[in-house]
Amino acid sequence: MSAQSRVMRRTVGDARKAKGATPLVCLTAYTAPVAQWADEVADIILVGDSLGMVLYGFETTLPVTVDMMIAHGAAVMRTTQRAMVVVDMPFGSYQESPEQGFRNAARIIKETGCGAVKLEGGAEMAQAVSYMVQRGIPVMGHIGLQPQSVNSMGGYRVAGKTAEDYGKLLNDAQAIDEAGAFAIVIEGTVEDVAADLTRRMKASSIGIGASAACDGQILVTEDMLGLTNGHRAKFVKPYAELAPQAREALGRYAAEVRERAFPSADFVYKGQNNAAAVQDPVDKKSA
Ligand code: KIV
Repeated sequence: MSAQSRVMRRTVGDARKAKGATPLVCLTAYTAPVAQWADEVADIILVGDSLGMVLYGFETTLPVTVDMMIAHGAAVMRTTQRAMVVVDMPFGSYQESPEQGFRNAARIIKETGCGAVKLEGGAEMAQAVSYMVQRGIPVMGHIGLQPQSVNSMGGYRVAGKTAEDYGKLLNDAQAIDEAGAFAIVIEGTVEDVAADLTRRMKASSIGIGASAACDGQILVTEDMLGLTNGHRAKFVKPYAELAPQAREALGRYAAEVRERAFPSADFVYKGQNNAAAVQDPVDKKSA
């Protein structure tokens, strides 16, 4: 493909420009087919560590590794052209030191070709974010409800509801913003708080369960398509309910196989049976 005909991917600059303008459309994708659908409509595709729960059946995102993120990030990059692809840094890959974070982020960028990484954390992660940004790694922050801190936070809870909680959230937003993140995911908070943080930040705010006051929105694609089992969070609008259709199709297939109704003539290769013309190798030997 010539350089002229290549589709230009969205960049960090585009995400910054969207602040206060047209809302940024963000979706998660971990696999080639979903990435291709998302690429048709999204500005940003996040290869989220939620893949640990959605694809791998873990109870939390904590067991996800850098190698898993690289394998899925590379698949999404190979099969998309338009959207900016951001790959999540999994638990344990950046919390130890800014140097550890840089090393793993550089590996993710080199081995996937993605445009940026995302990491969870507030003021305590500001030094790591600044270290990476100053060395050429675009970083998306993630504050509020942070799934990687589920154990220390004592579960999944709405953030910023009390004055004390709000003070902490504001401090986190300002620290990550000052550190140079180009966008910050705000997860699980009330509308007034999201609006206030969005107004104060230079970075674009990306809401998930944080109201339409943000500069953009993100949802886990499998959740909004009704492809995940179990509890659906309040903020997930079911744009489709695909699981029942998929189950029904699999059930029909199983029944047809058992009845020998599948494959019917339409799904069988046609051709002459030349079996009679071929001499059996055993007969050939005895001839
Ligand atoms: O891992 C993920 O998918 C995320 C989004 C839900 C923001 O972090």
